[in-house]
Amino acid sequence: MSTPSFAYELEGEVAVITFDIEGEAVNTLSPAISQEFEALMTKAAADDAARAIVFISGKKDSFIAGAKIDFLSTLKTAAEAVALCRQGQAGFDRLDAFEKPVIAAINGACLGGGLEWALACDYRIATDTPKTSLGLPEVQLGLIPGAGGTQRLPRLIGAQAALDLILTGKSLKAKKALKLGVVDEVVPTPILRQVALRRALEMAEGKLKLDRTRGLSGVAKSRSFKDVLRGLSDQKAWAELALEDNPVGRKVLFDQAKKELLKKTKGRYPAPEKALEVIKTGLDKGLPAGLEAEAQAFGELVVSDVSKRLVEIFFATTALKKDNGTQNPELKPRPVTRLGMVGGGLMGGGIAYVATALQGIPVRLKDRDDAGVGRALAYVRGLYDERVKRKSLTWRERDRQLALVTGTTDYSGFKRAEVVIEAVFEDLKLKHQVLKEVEAAGRPDVIFASNTSSLPITKIAEASRHPETVIGMHYFSPVHKMPLLEIITHKGTADWVTATCVEVGKKQGKTVIVVNDGVGFYTSRILAPYLNEAAFLLAEGADIAELDRALTDFGFPVGPITLLDEVGIDVAAKVSKIMHEAYGDRMLAPATTDALVADGRLGRKAKKGFYTYESGKKKEVDQSIYLMMPRGVERKRVDRAEMAERCVLQMVNEAVRCLGEGILRSPRDGDIGAIFGLGFPPFLGGPFRHAESQGLGRTLQRLEHYQERHGVRFTPAPLFAELVKTGKRFY
Ligand SMILES: NC(=O)c1ccc[n+]([C@@H]2O[C@H](COP(=O)([O-])OP(=O)(O)OC[C@H]3O[C@@H](n4cnc5c(N)ncnc54)[C@H](O)[C@@H]3O)[C@@H](O)[C@H]2O)c1
Repeated sequence: MSTPSFAYELEGEVAVITFDIEGEAVNTLSPAISQEFEALMTKAAADDAARAIVFISGKKDSFIAGAKIDFLSTLKTAAEAVALCRQGQAGFDRLDAFEKPVIAAINGACLGGGLEWALACDYRIATDTPKTSLGLPEVQLGLIPGAGGTQRLPRLIGAQAALDLILTGKSLKAKKALKLGVVDEVVPTPILRQVALRRALEMAEGKLKLDRTRGLSGVAKSRSFKDVLRGLSDQKAWAELALEDNPVGRKVLFDQAKKELLKKTKGRYPAPEKALEVIKTGLDKGLPAGLEAEAQAFGELVVSDVSKRLVEIFFATTALKKDNGTQNPELKPRPVTRLGMVGGGLMGGGIAYVATALQGIPVRLKDRDDAGVGRALAYVRGLYDERVKRKSLTWRERDRQLALVTGTTDYSGFKRAEVVIEAVFEDLKLKHQVLKEVEAAGRPDVIFASNTSSLPITKIAEASRHPETVIGMHYFSPVHKMPLLEIITHKGTADWVTATCVEVGKKQGKTVIVVNDGVGFYTSRILAPYLNEAAFLLAEGADIAELDRALTDFGFPVGPITLLDEVGIDVAAKVSKIMHEAYGDRMLAPATTDALVADGRLGRKAKKGFYTYESGKKKEVDQSIYLMMPRGVERKRVDRAEMAERCVLQMVNEAVRCLGEGILRSPRDGDIGAIFGLGFPPFLGGPFRHAESQGLGRTLQRLEHYQERHGVRFTPAPLFAELVKTGKRFY
């Protein structure tokens, strides 16, 4: 028999059930766990000495992280999943109806099935630490809550607030959860158990009673009368009441929510739409109908392609969290207690922010002169101030974290930095000079990481006295928002250096992929032919807005032409030349690009690009740009599906080349890099997963088809033909 995951002990007149799965970092849910818990509840019901129950986690920083996801992916049919949901729902129904009061004492992550569990308890207490977060993130896996969450949450906090949480999958900190009524009380961690025991007895003695009667009508049941009154003084709260309180108002609310949702998802993500339907069914037709609809929808979603892709991404990012970026999984990163930052521009400022805000280490930042240092510090301060405005940080915390960044115009204070990141201008000579200065001023084993976006790390390392400590750390702009960090090793980079930088990136909240050196590394390399193809389509006569629409309809967050304006047409032209030089004619950009740059059309930064950027006016296609194209203003209708297919095939084909040439360590890294770095649609799983779901043979045929029409730039990557011939796959 396996070790029990729960402990049952009597503390005075309260039974404390502690959940602690042996050997696991966090508690997760599975049918075996539910069975064990139910047996304990039966015991608690029969235990005359126990008047109430406290349910608490034995893990240090987590309550319940959700359902065991490996288990979800073993579900083969919708019917199997429906049955599982019904089982879970029945378990929580029993908990909800349990004859003795049950208190959930929540410290750490309380997510998905964990929150559904807590929602079935009578009273919820959460700790006030930043580690405590509550939410129903199922939509992020293409699913909906399947054990009553879509029904209990709207009943507890009102439909509008519940929709906001369930449709986005976002999580709440304890204070916000209290405000919304998701939890009833927030306490400091050390007294959680004590307070929970006290509330348990108070409930058993009838001293603590909660007004949970107003949930169905839409106002948070546990909000105090004062809170409700306060809420009603603002117009929004009135609107909320009016909308949710009656079926007609509710219809308006749900129709509006669906419209907003479709604007965002374009119908590509079925889970939030299903959640919306299921919540409405429950509110219109009652709890049993709502629960049945929830189970059916969950079953349908779990076997859908979208959910499969999103779950695969979840597994890939989880695996990357454990990966140190080298062949030796045992290798430990060296401690990094201080970061040196050379260059405090857009990127340097952003890196200094994530290093202080997320990694929590001091950063010594050098720029050329006082003005440069001042700009960098102001940028970092601006990012902290925004958080204070959003109330995710207090002024005091902001001051404390801001004090971690100090500026200099020489290398004073660099002696103690284990890692120095360089983000000066994109110029090899300058980077060599900075490298030598850092090696002269720093520790003998200082790691020199370059944030270059296009210069080969091998070339940068040539100026080093110890090239084994030279590496690339390619961040994306804006650094505080973009989730990916691409780390680039050259042939001589030492493994401990890679492992240490990977750890730095993870601590800064990044998903890190490690790639081998080569021009454009991975992400810039697959982006270049994609953007080139868009430029060819324009030159052939495609309409700018149509082309952007084709790719946003495909699932990219912005279209390629908008992206060109954002990146800078000059920057794209420069990168494109470097790519052409390195990879030959398949990367040749159409001649129009140079003409655009010569005309001063650099994109948004110059307020002149493919689109107009007049302040106060809606962004529109700048029609005059067509005059610079071979076909002039006369546009030709090109099928949207063809435009999307051509651009995406370019990206997929180049990604496959990167894998074949050993730039990528795995298709997994390639998929994650494209999704998190370039916005490849997550529901398609990345270029490798996408090619596989289309069929490798079919993808190869499409490339050959376009190769006949457009020549060498569609020549299939050799690995494609090889895989098709041998019947092998990427995954
Ligand atoms: N901007 C992006 O989107 C992006 C994305 C990824 C990588 N990169 C790369 O990051 C690097 C920096 O880009 P950026 O956009 O932050 O540039 P930037 O022009 O905003 O900043 C460069 C900074 O370096 C400073 N600098 C120049 N010489 C210096 C020296 N000798 N010592 C100290 N500071 C010096 C400049 O004063 C300036 O503040 C480049 O290599 C670029 O290719 C940029």
